Amino acid sequence: MKSSLSTKHLLGIRYISKNDINLIFQTAKSFKNILQRPVKQVPSLKSLTIANLFFENSTRTRISFELAEKRLGASTVNFSASSSSTKKGETLLDTVNNILSMKVDMIVIRHSSPGVPQFLSENISANIINAGDGTHEHPTQALLDAFSMQEALNSKLEGKNIAIIGDITHSRVAMSNIMCLKKLGANIKLCGPPTLLPKNIEKMGVEVNFNVEETLEWCDVANVLRIQLERQGGQKGEKTSYFPSLKEYAETFGINKKMLDKLGNKIVLMHPGPINRGVELTSDAADSEHSIILNQVENGVAIRMAVLYLLAGNEAFSETKI
Ligand code: CP
Repeated sequence: MKSSLSTKHLLGIRYISKNDINLIFQTAKSFKNILQRPVKQVPSLKSLTIANLFFENSTRTRISFELAEKRLGASTVNFSASSSSTKKGETLLDTVNNILSMKVDMIVIRHSSPGVPQFLSENISANIINAGDGTHEHPTQALLDAFSMQEALNSKLEGKNIAIIGDITHSRVAMSNIMCLKKLGANIKLCGPPTLLPKNIEKMGVEVNFNVEETLEWCDVANVLRIQLERQGGQKGEKTSYFPSLKEYAETFGINKKMLDKLGNKIVLMHPGPINRGVELTSDAADSEHSIILNQVENGVAIRMAVLYLLAGNEAFSETKI
């Protein structure tokens, strides 16, 4: 296995290799051990300054990147679009170039427009990390999801049955998960209303099933996705044109603990967050012994530490190095 990444940026899972993914996992495992210690910091990136540019709302990803940066000793600056000069008409590239002129080495960016991280990587010299771009990709979420699956199953994912259930069409998490899991050799089944599954999605090498109970019976892991009303032209509580009502969605595709308990296999239940409780998952399912939702969030910090550390040009991290 090569011990350094094949890329300078993390723009999407589609651009990285299986070797890159395994290198990130190996390094994240060492960082996860560091995070169990009383002193959770290593000074590996103390010479770097990293800007977190969030043009779209975030709780988990923004805090997780900031903690990862601080735990590697980097200096961090945070930018939120609502209080910035982009509101006065400045272009994205001008904004980023102004930030970089203050000696910033890496950019973590979330934006509602697909392709923004790619555009920046073609126009500036700093490392770019995609923290979610529209419906395109969310690579660190897919990495932390696959890492958490391996940990929960205590096994590599080759030949494992992974279900992705919910709003696939509007989900960057679904796209990055599919590509990551395919590279790791898993079998993938998608489940959701036909209106929320992209046409010809089978061409990505996945199966489709519109019955949630059959899908749960088939899988080792169910990764359940949020209904993304903000990308469907509606807000919470409003009707969308994709399904009749949230109540009907919950009745047809929602998962509750009773459904999990009656399965032949004990499956692992995941959700990238934020959860719409009572829509895609009931609280008794989300908080059940099947759920590893908070482990996913915990693993996100170690995964993001690994991504930052390796993109900074370091070779695979081992605890013996400190
Ligand atoms: N999973 C995820 O991206 O969550 P946030 O939107 O809170 O960052």
